[in-house]
Amino acid sequence: MVDSPRDDRWASRFGLIMAMAGNAVGLGNFLRFPGKAAPYGGAFMVPYFLSLLLLGIPLMWIEWTIGRHGGSYGHGSTPGMFHRLWKHPVSKYLGIFGVLLPAMIGIYYIYIESWSLGYAVETITGSYWGRTSHDQMAEVFTGYLGLNKGLVSFAPKSYFFFLVTLGINVLVFARGIEKGIEVVSKFAMPTLFAVGVILAIRVLTLSPVEGRTVSDGLARIWVIDWSMLKNPSMWIDAAGQIFFSLSLGFGMIHTYASYVGKNEDVTLNALATCSTNEFVEVILGGTIAVPAALIFFGPAQTDQIVQGGTFHIAFHSLPVIFQQLPAGRLFGTLWFILLFLAGLTSSMAMFTPLLLFLKDELRIGKWKSVIAICIGVFLLMQPVVLFMNQGVMDELDFWAGTFFLVLFATIEAVVFAWIFGMKRGWKEMHLGADLQVPRIFYYIMQFVTPIFAIALLGWWVYGGMWPKLMMVGVKPENVPYLWLARAIIVAGWLALAWGVWYAWRTHPKFFEEEKAVEPGETLP
Ligand code: TRP
Repeated sequence: MVDSPRDDRWASRFGLIMAMAGNAVGLGNFLRFPGKAAPYGGAFMVPYFLSLLLLGIPLMWIEWTIGRHGGSYGHGSTPGMFHRLWKHPVSKYLGIFGVLLPAMIGIYYIYIESWSLGYAVETITGSYWGRTSHDQMAEVFTGYLGLNKGLVSFAPKSYFFFLVTLGINVLVFARGIEKGIEVVSKFAMPTLFAVGVILAIRVLTLSPVEGRTVSDGLARIWVIDWSMLKNPSMWIDAAGQIFFSLSLGFGMIHTYASYVGKNEDVTLNALATCSTNEFVEVILGGTIAVPAALIFFGPAQTDQIVQGGTFHIAFHSLPVIFQQLPAGRLFGTLWFILLFLAGLTSSMAMFTPLLLFLKDELRIGKWKSVIAICIGVFLLMQPVVLFMNQGVMDELDFWAGTFFLVLFATIEAVVFAWIFGMKRGWKEMHLGADLQVPRIFYYIMQFVTPIFAIALLGWWVYGGMWPKLMMVGVKPENVPYLWLARAIIVAGWLALAWGVWYAWRTHPKFFEEEKAVEPGETLP
C-alpha cells in the first residue's frame, strides 16, 4: 500500500454509517448521559433536544461537509481542511484542536474502556459475587483500580486489561479505515444494538421492588419539572452532552468524512449518524441504568448514586442489581460487553486524525507514524492510570472533553458560515445529496448555530472556566498533578503547531495545488 494521502477509503455506505455511528455512540451514551440527565429529571430533555436541533444536527452537517471538502484535496485532518476553507495563515493553526482533542481524550478514554473489559471478565467468572451491597461494590472498584494504595494507583489486573485494550485499539487503528475501522464497526455496531435492546427489555420487564415499578423508573428520566428550566447549569450540561455524545467539536467526524467521495451523500448520512446516536443514547442509554437503579434502590439512594459520579452507577450499582436477578451473571456480562463495544468503536478513531496529520501533512511513513503514536500515547497514559487519585483524568476531561471542544465547535461554525460563507457551504453540503435539507436550516446554520455556540463559550469562559483554571477547591497536594495534565495539553498543542509550521514550509505546493483526489486514489 502506498503512503499517500488518499490510499484508503470506505468500502460501503453501510460501513461508513456504522463507523460514524460507532464513533458517536460510546461510553458517553451509557455512562455520561444518564449521569447528566438524572439530576434534572425530564426537564433535561428540553435543552437537550433544543441543542440537538440547533447545534448538534447543523454541526454534524458542517463537519461532514468540511471533512469531505478537505479530503478532496488530500487532507485527512482539520489543519489542512481549515486551510482549504479559509486561506488565512492562522486557519491551519486553529485546525490543530481537531488533532489534539481526540488524542487527548483517547489517553483517558481507553483506560475507562478497559475497565468494562475487565469487569466483563470479572462478571463471567463471578469474582465479586457475594459482595452484595453498594459499599462492598465500591470497595471492589477501588481495589480493581488500585485507588486504595496510597500515592500511586496501580493494580496488576486493571493494568493488564488496560494493556490489552490499548493493544486492541492499536491493531484496529493501524489497519486503517477500510480494513480496520470499517470491518470492526460492521460487526460491533449491530452486536451493540442487539445487546442494548436485550438489556433495555430486561429492565422494562423487571418486577416491582418494594412497590417501585418500571414506570416509576422511567419517570425519573422523562417527567418534566418545568421550574428546572431556569437553571443555567442544566442548559450548559445539556449542550455539552450533545457535543460530547455526537463527537462534535473534536475533528473526528471530519477525518472519517474525508474519505467520502466528492459526489457521495453527506446530508442523509449525517442525519443517520445523529439519529442512530440519539436512539442509542436516549432510548437505550436512558432506559437501562437509571430506571434499574431507581426500581432497586428508590429515589433517595438513586440521587446519591448519581451525584457520586458517572462511574458509580455502572460499576457499583448495576453489579449489585445483577446479583439479585435470575441469570444475573449473563445480563451483567452483556452490560459490560455493551460498554466495551461502545467504547472501542469510539476510541479506535481517536488517534486517526493524528495519524493522518503525520502521514498526509508531514509525509512521515505510515508505520513510523503508527509506532511514534503508540510510544507517545503509552507514555502519556501512565500519569492518567497511576495518578488517578490526584485527578489527572478529570483535568484532561475538563479541558479536552468539555471546554476546548466548545471552543473548536464555535470556531468551525463561524469559519464555515461566515468566512467560507453559508451560500458556498450550503452548495458544497448538497453535492450528491440524497436529502434536500429544509431551507430553514440555512438560516439556522448561518445565525443560530454560531451565535448559540458563541454564547455557550462565553458562559464557559465567564462562569465555568475561571474557578477551574484557578484550581478553586483543589487539594494543595494535587496541584502539581493537575499542572502535569495541563502541561501535556500545552505541549501537545505546541508540538502540533510546530508540525503545521514545518509541513507548510517544507512542501508548500501541496497546500496550493488545486487537484482534487478521490478516496482510494493515490497521488503521483
Ligand atoms: N461520542 C463519544 C461518546 O459518546 C465520545 C467522544 C467524544 C469521541 N469525542 C470523541 C469519540 C472523539 C471519538 C472521537 O462516548
